[in-house]
Amino acid sequence: MRVLIYGAGVQGSFLAHVLIRANNDVTVLARGKRAEELRRDGIVLRHYLQRKTTIDKVTVIGELRKDDIYDAIFVTMKYSDFPDVLPALAQNGSENIILVGNNATASEMEAYLVTHSEKAKNIVFGFQLTGGKKKKDHTVVVRFNAGGMVIGSLEKSVLLKDSVGEIFKNTKYKITYEKNIDSWLKSHMIGVLPMNLAALIKDNNFKAIAKDNELLKQLVAAMDEGYEVLKESGYEVIPAVQANLVKRHKHMAFLFYKLYHYLPLASQVQGSFAELKGLYDAFYEIKERSDVLTPNLDLLVEDGKYVDFVKEMREQS
Ligand SMILES: NC(=O)c1ccc[n+]([C@@H]2O[C@H](COP(=O)([O-])OP(=O)(O)OC[C@H]3O[C@@H](n4cnc5c(N)ncnc54)[C@H](OP(=O)(O)O)[C@@H]3O)[C@@H](O)[C@H]2O)c1
Repeated sequence: MRVLIYGAGVQGSFLAHVLIRANNDVTVLARGKRAEELRRDGIVLRHYLQRKTTIDKVTVIGELRKDDIYDAIFVTMKYSDFPDVLPALAQNGSENIILVGNNATASEMEAYLVTHSEKAKNIVFGFQLTGGKKKKDHTVVVRFNAGGMVIGSLEKSVLLKDSVGEIFKNTKYKITYEKNIDSWLKSHMIGVLPMNLAALIKDNNFKAIAKDNELLKQLVAAMDEGYEVLKESGYEVIPAVQANLVKRHKHMAFLFYKLYHYLPLASQVQGSFAELKGLYDAFYEIKERSDVLTPNLDLLVEDGKYVDFVKEMREQS
């Protein structure tokens, strides 16, 4: 299948590697230094748990033309990057689009594409269950087994199952179809927000987070508050087990996050502070419409570092 990976960061690079090895005709869209690097060296991945390095040559383009048609386009970038690329996707004639990554406003993105596209599109949302980090001359990927993705569409039945099946047919990569992807993505955002806020407060020093019991308790309580906001606003929390853990087994959740932040693996998973602000703003809109109080999340947000960071971002834009 002719596949475009739009965004060649951590997630896009691993996905491209999987799809190249599955004999798809893969192109990546990258810009600036990353495009140069990919043209020169290919996709260089260090598979952290498997302790191996792979290199894949790939076709690189710098822009998506209207008449450049693919069987599917996977857009793999940060939530905060999406607004810039939706116009190019809308004007392109490809029909099948999979928007991959944290996404707090899937309905709005879909509405934009539906309204602005000349040709009808099948729009699907995905979340790749791998982590990683960009290093100077390679990308680290943290994956269990062959990697996988949760996929769903806002329509009642998941669109694109046949195309997705065809694209991944020669892989061990696990596709999980999710009927309520919007709630899944919003639930996932609740886990991400307190963890990224804690990382910001401690300057990405994961051991310092692990040692700070008060911060860890706040992190667990903030997740519980976030899930309450979602439930009160009519969203299903998926998977429910995560919400149950932080509500009913706070001490176990505390120990889990303490241990997680001590693991060397945790520091290989790249958080994003730019994305954090976008996600928090989207969460805040939902929270404003509910009666749920979020004192622990508010404390994490009111920390001086987050306030300074938001100020800096506003000055830059
Ligand atoms: N990395 C992880 O550990 C991890 C784990 C779980 C989930 N996720 C989620 O997966 C999603 C993607 O994350 P990621 O880590 O893959 O992000 P990333 O490494 O920052 O990759 C995004 C890529 O998209 C490119 N891009 C952004 N805007 C573009 C544009 N307008 N035109 C062309 N290219 C553009 C960026 O290019 P530049 O480099 O030029 O900006 C970058 O190469 C996020 O929602 C993230 O939260 C990531």
